[in-house]
Amino acid sequence: MGWASWNHFFCDYNDQTIRDQADALVSTGMRDLGYNYVLIQECLTTGRSADGSLIVDATRFPHGMKALVDYVHSRGLKAGTYTDIGVNTCAGKPYQGSYQHEDQDAATFASWGYDFVEMDYCNRPPGVMGRGIYERMAEAIRKTGRPMLFYICSWGNEGPWTWAQGKAQLWRTESDVAGEKNHADWKSVVGNFESTERHSVFNGPNSWNDPDMMVVGNPGLTLTEAQTHFSMWAISAAPLWAGNDLTQMDGPIRAIFTNSEVIAVDQDPLGAGPVKVREYGAGIEVWAKPLGAFGSGVQAVMLVNLGEAPAEASVEWSDLGLAGEAAVRDLWAHKDLGEFRDAYKTQLPAHGSVLLKVSGEFSWTRGATYEAEWPGNTRTGDAALVVCPECSQSYAVSLSGAKNNAGGSSLAFNHIVVPESGKYWVKLVYVYSGEANNTAQMRVNQIAPTDLKLPGGIYATAKIPVDLVKGENSITFSFAAEGTVNIDRLTVTR
Ligand code: GAL
Repeated sequence: MGWASWNHFFCDYNDQTIRDQADALVSTGMRDLGYNYVLIQECLTTGRSADGSLIVDATRFPHGMKALVDYVHSRGLKAGTYTDIGVNTCAGKPYQGSYQHEDQDAATFASWGYDFVEMDYCNRPPGVMGRGIYERMAEAIRKTGRPMLFYICSWGNEGPWTWAQGKAQLWRTESDVAGEKNHADWKSVVGNFESTERHSVFNGPNSWNDPDMMVVGNPGLTLTEAQTHFSMWAISAAPLWAGNDLTQMDGPIRAIFTNSEVIAVDQDPLGAGPVKVREYGAGIEVWAKPLGAFGSGVQAVMLVNLGEAPAEASVEWSDLGLAGEAAVRDLWAHKDLGEFRDAYKTQLPAHGSVLLKVSGEFSWTRGATYEAEWPGNTRTGDAALVVCPECSQSYAVSLSGAKNNAGGSSLAFNHIVVPESGKYWVKLVYVYSGEANNTAQMRVNQIAPTDLKLPGGIYATAKIPVDLVKGENSITFSFAAEGTVNIDRLTVTR
């Protein structure tokens, strides 16, 4: 969470602008709600000296870069900088990208005291993929020894959600939400939000899909639209970057940024991505994400009217995996709306939305599904993410056996949360390309592994009885036999 300069200012800013915004993060109370990063984007460095080191734009930053970063730190905030995979940034010459200067620039950013680095995707050198440059930069950042978050801003190109875990912490899923300086556009807000859902399964701790810095508070959106925009980002567990001028913000816009219950939806520790659970005619959509655990009776739900006329919207408990009665809280209004059976209905204006917390009984007969590729799981050895068209969400994790890999490989499904200790069923869905029947191992929590027979050559399901304990569990599969098993997902039921 923080504030980022580009969407409001483009390159029309200087040292003082950044200090003013840092001050405003403090005076508005936003810092204390978690908006901790000040990201200074674009038009920073105008050349390189003879030894290749970056030259800071002295007109824009008359006190130098370190002094500005120190100021940001003195306000209890962290500072972010910007570079590019090309020789020059998106703003073009003379602004410097880091191509073939990754080590040197990362060391420079660290020496200035930065805590965060954005790397943009403009001017990609011909014939070179961005991924290699991003990986070099990630390694360069690691080598500085200074903890700096790394933001891959490839606008969704090269799908960093599939390969950048452990190298970067966040990546852009789409092109810019604002094509013009200080301007917001409803259609691109909706478009950027919707495109993050395609990669929702890759959303989790240290693996954040970013639909872009927000444009809440910039001209072009009604107040209703601005609030819906914020709800969309919150239910997406998106990085929350304010992209407006915080020194000129009016009361209603400030109220949007500072609603602690809505921020809590964004910052929920599970970090699950959003899922569109239902769509009705005339643009009504129902989005949900579990809070705290995948098998959670507590869910954040956004009802949104993307249509052009007021309409009724409803959410059915069955779409959330809940049964019976559930309590509904309106998070924007900080108000409990009561207990409802089976569903909740409300009226929404055009482009309006509600963000609800629905707390009910999770249906353990239907169960909770855990995708193998979720970034909160742990892979060891050769375990690798693979494309699997027949798998749910189109990905699986492959475990290669002894033939390919002496030590074997494993996948741990972490954060399997159940409400009571007892007997559960684990349904494992996998693809096994081996010929012969083979044996994998399954371990529940720290208990000794048991063998699991895998019939050869199939897309199959194994249903296994397990004892789980109340709260957190982990289930680990390992494979040291011949061939490769692709694990798609597992479902836990009562
Ligand atoms: C875009 C990037 C924006 C901003 C801008 C600066 O490519 O997505 O976040 O950094 O470049 O030129």
